[in-house]
Amino acid sequence: MPGACRGARGRTGPLSFGELMDDREGRLAEALDVGQAYLKESSLTALMGRVGGVIDEVPVAPCPDKRWFQRSYGRCVTDEPDELLVGDGLFYLTEQRKLFLDCTAGHYQMTWGYDHPELHALLLDGIARGIVWDNHSNIPSAPAKRLTAKLVELANPGRDPAELQDDPDSLNTVLSGVATGTVACGAAMKITLIHHGPDRPAVFVVLDGNYHGTDLFAQRLRGMWPEYFCNVKIVAVQPNDPDELRAVFAEHGERIAGFWAEPVMMNREAIVIEPEYLRLARELCDETGALMAMDEIQTGFWFPEVIYSVRLGLQPDFIVLGKGMTAGFHPLAALVYRGRLDCLEQYDAISTNGNAPLAAYMALGCIALVERHADEIEAAGEAWHQALAQIADEFPETLVEARGVGHMSGLKFRDREECLAFHRAAIERGLWLRAHTYHEGHATILTKFALPVNQEVIDFAAEAIRGLLRDIK
Ligand SMILES: Cc1ncc(COP(=O)(O)O)c(C=O)c1O
Repeated sequence: MPGACRGARGRTGPLSFGELMDDREGRLAEALDVGQAYLKESSLTALMGRVGGVIDEVPVAPCPDKRWFQRSYGRCVTDEPDELLVGDGLFYLTEQRKLFLDCTAGHYQMTWGYDHPELHALLLDGIARGIVWDNHSNIPSAPAKRLTAKLVELANPGRDPAELQDDPDSLNTVLSGVATGTVACGAAMKITLIHHGPDRPAVFVVLDGNYHGTDLFAQRLRGMWPEYFCNVKIVAVQPNDPDELRAVFAEHGERIAGFWAEPVMMNREAIVIEPEYLRLARELCDETGALMAMDEIQTGFWFPEVIYSVRLGLQPDFIVLGKGMTAGFHPLAALVYRGRLDCLEQYDAISTNGNAPLAAYMALGCIALVERHADEIEAAGEAWHQALAQIADEFPETLVEARGVGHMSGLKFRDREECLAFHRAAIERGLWLRAHTYHEGHATILTKFALPVNQEVIDFAAEAIRGLLRDIK
């Protein structure tokens, strides 16, 4: 479809979809319209009955393709782009009108699924009230400030705010002016380096298979770019091996600057880090003076307690939050940390779009929904994990076990090729889930359902997975 480059110079009148999207005949607009109506007006049972099929009632429209994308993002020229057209709740339609059940909440960030009605209304309410979309971080507006208060409250349940304010050892400080998890993680890494000081090598103890973002230092923690760093040593330990952790702390002692962990390793086969292991890490950090960071970019906002460290009764020095905080409304992340570590200057860690009052307003809405639906979230997470555990028991020749916790659960396969074949079949079947297979020995299917998942959908997804497992045999 893309025609020759045409500018809007000299045009007047309101901005229009047709012009902006090069959709002069209105066919894309119509496909969106009908697709959205189909998703919103169909019952759950009707939608589940057609997952994996083509929804012919929705017209086909010419859609832009990815010809200008970077190669690693799928640059390809195609006459039939088949990316996402429109989504609602847990379902979405592709541009070729195939119906999918999204078992991963977008890419683990659409906490309440696509276009949640209450968040949709909240967004319009925020705009109508004059909440600006973004502004300079020197003049943060009410939602941005209110969000910092809410995050401190969540990180310190039951504590009196006045007392917290004067307690530099508590998690009473929030860096909120950052747009992405990577920048929030990066801020914690910088504070850790400053805290450690420049006069001795800094050792970072990390879990093998970690993922703390995409900037240079975060990637160094997962083994990349070794040739560009000196005076920093990365020691990767196997998750849940307390003896190895003790040995590493004994060997490097006070040279250790920081310990980093994701409590559920969604970037390594949904390995759940045992609470005792994290408590041991806390003790070892206290003994050596190292700082402990919990990267909750994945776990935050997906459990009734909102913050998973709180669920575990653990007080790290840093809690990194992002991804689902705004339920997918771009862009906002945050670092909650102990007041005594408040040492960065304003421009040491900041993103232009990170003050984002409208996104902060959405984050407050997302948190309120988690609090309101805490019991259902607990029950649905448990039911989904149990369903996968049951499936793992039924297919012992193919599956090792169910992994993860709650909504963030997966299935570990015995064989990588079978895992990949299952993944292809799942996509064909209309189940959008992830396969983690890119490291030696890794063969896990990952899901992270949006929080509105209910028993009906859980039963449907479990049955569909059973069918696929039978077929790949
Ligand atoms: C555990 C973890 N940490 C950090 C990040 C980086 O967050 P962002 O993509 O918002 O920069 C991610 C993103 O997937 C993540 O899963």
